[in-house]
Amino acid sequence: MFHDLARDDIYRLETPKLWLRWPKLADAPNLARYLADHDVTKMTSRIPHPYPPDEAERFVFETRRNNSEGKSIGLVITPNAKPDQAIGAITLAPTDVEGELVIGYWVGVPFWGRGYASEAVRGMLDIGFGMSPANRVVASVRTINPASRGVLERNGFRYTHDAESFMPARNRSHMVHWFELERQAWALDAGRETSRSSRDAVS
Ligand SMILES: CC(C)(COP(=O)(O)OP(=O)(O)OC[C@H]1O[C@@H](n2cnc3c(N)ncnc32)[C@H](O)[C@@H]1OP(=O)(O)O)[C@@H](O)C(=O)NCCC(=O)NCCS
Repeated sequence: MFHDLARDDIYRLETPKLWLRWPKLADAPNLARYLADHDVTKMTSRIPHPYPPDEAERFVFETRRNNSEGKSIGLVITPNAKPDQAIGAITLAPTDVEGELVIGYWVGVPFWGRGYASEAVRGMLDIGFGMSPANRVVASVRTINPASRGVLERNGFRYTHDAESFMPARNRSHMVHWFELERQAWALDAGRETSRSSRDAVS
């Protein structure tokens, strides 16, 4: 699904304040620390709470495998001044609909409100549309999550509908807002030249 370049763990995306890079085992303690906070996990459908002891390591291994197989792409979010410090994660994965990807992300509570998620989503869209043939990226946010809604709208997503969504890690359904961004709308966004991949950085 994704271009071969993103399948190698030296791949990273640089944005003005962040590096989005492959997760590594050394990230597990940081990921576990921030995902211990229910304010983060309760907004997600697949991150369990309480966060199990080996879950971060499992996430790292699974994500690296999926990345290398080109099935999906999962990157940790790090401040570019401290690229060893994982403060969040972001993933793009195919849905059952041809040409469609779904995006998911989180940022640790101490780092909220600095524009990191907005910037990470912007970078990830460059990967999604730039390194795969996808025509559309979709996202769902719980109706009690205006911050995430803001992140999507700032990146050009448009609201499509509300639905009840089963969240496996919550073991129940919640109402969510669905959003989508079409490739054409992404391509028309003249301000998106703010990120570059490590491929460009070394050439
Ligand atoms: C949603 C989340 C990723 C946002 O991360 P972040 O780095 O703080 O996001 P940003 O700083 O880029 O942008 C957040 C925006 O929401 C706004 N916001 C924050 N709290 C808000 C609230 N309660 N109501 C309305 N807007 C809010 C911020 O002001 C900001 O918009 P602005 O820059 O226009 O002012 C983070 O809160 C998080 O990880 N939450 C838990 C997990 C989650 O919700 N993941 C997404 C699942 S769909």
